[in-house]
Amino acid sequence: MKGEFNMLKIITIVGARPQIIKAAALSRAIKENFSSEIEEIIVHTGQHYDENMSEQFFQELSIPKPKYNLGVGSQSHASQTANIILQLEKILLDEKPKVLVVYGDTNSTIAASLTAAKMGIAVAHIEAGLRSFNKNMPEEINRIATDHVSTLLFSPTHNGVQNLENEGFSLNNKAPFSMDNPAIYHCGDVMYDNTLFFSQLAEGKSEILEKHSLEKNNFTLCTIHRDYNTDNPSRMQSIFQALSFLAKEKNQKIFLPLHPRTSKNLEKSLGKSLYEDVVKNKNIIISGPVSFLEMTLLEKHSKLIATDSGGVQKEACFFKKPLLILRSETEWVELVEAKSASIVDANKDLIISQFERLLQSDNLVFPDIFGDGKAAVFIANKILEYDRQGNN
Ligand code: UD1
Ligand code: UDP
Repeated sequence: MKGEFNMLKIITIVGARPQIIKAAALSRAIKENFSSEIEEIIVHTGQHYDENMSEQFFQELSIPKPKYNLGVGSQSHASQTANIILQLEKILLDEKPKVLVVYGDTNSTIAASLTAAKMGIAVAHIEAGLRSFNKNMPEEINRIATDHVSTLLFSPTHNGVQNLENEGFSLNNKAPFSMDNPAIYHCGDVMYDNTLFFSQLAEGKSEILEKHSLEKNNFTLCTIHRDYNTDNPSRMQSIFQALSFLAKEKNQKIFLPLHPRTSKNLEKSLGKSLYEDVVKNKNIIISGPVSFLEMTLLEKHSKLIATDSGGVQKEACFFKKPLLILRSETEWVELVEAKSASIVDANKDLIISQFERLLQSDNLVFPDIFGDGKAAVFIANKILEYDRQGNN
């Protein structure tokens, strides 16, 4: 056990909604197990800033308040990334953390990783090794670059570890670790930690189902926010034609908590007639972003999930729900291989036919690949071990 003055100082970077949610797991693990050994400072880049995309998660998931908020907001990729780098450098100079923790693959992730790596601060990348093999996605560039400047790489799945090995990372490196001699860990998924922790808690805490007259196991949950969907009217039209068909012709209830990026574009991308068709259909319920506990309840009690989200795909598997992936590929190939998920892209006919296939299939298999719900404790332990090994 360490004294107050030689605690390990880490900085955690959050910016986008899923990173705030993921950060809850590590903050909880630190609070419960390592509060006398690790001092965690949270820096929020401000990439997401609406109350329902940011603040509500800090309150609901008891995440410590960020010490800094860089307030970068919505900008072009270059401006957003550059703005984070410029501001974060000053904070890292002041705070002198030993380790910088980043999540996932957003602009906040790459900006913070580059800043820290060039200052000699070890980057711990949670969700390392995930690949879509599609560099047209900004996220693919962000995650590859982040992995290659990280010292501690925490991969949720075996497939992620394999991807790293295929890119030339050695799995046999020994301490002392550095960017040139990084540690690769297979650790499970902090999102699974969160789902296990919050799913019971969510029951009774929200009336989201009642509010929207959603019957348990009798509605589809759908989220859409990827730029290549939201910014491409023909893809949006095709997805919504399929949803409209299912709602109208098959009497399926569909709940869509939409990301602000999607709602801002919806009317324009669908065109007047399809837009009106969609919003007037009583079986299609469109809302703004919901809280994590609400989302957890919606996922748990849905009958099928359709999404282009990385995180929601995994949560579909945690809750053993059939899944339509509104993308042309996925990082979670294991779900598709198990056939409980189908890649349907933005193809209207495929969306409809796979919707029917999945709902008619008995005994769908949901792979158990996301660990034991203790990923965050494992990660905190490995970060402490790194500190004790006298690196730097
Ligand atoms: C970002 C991540 C993406 C992640 C997603 C999670 C990048 C490149 N992309 O995408 O990987 O899956 O977050 O949700 O980092 N907006 C608001 N209010 C907000 C936030 C965003 O209105 O609080 C709107 C703005 O119009 C903004 C747009 O959403 O221009 C996109 O936001 P941005 O953070 O640039 O990217 P996301 O699409 O959210
Ligand atoms: N989520 C939420 N409210 C919503 C939509 C999503 O709490 O209205 C949660 C969801 O349960 C998951 C995370 O946000 O934990 C996924 O974030 P998002 O889809 O924005 O990003 P991605 O995972 O694709 O990066």
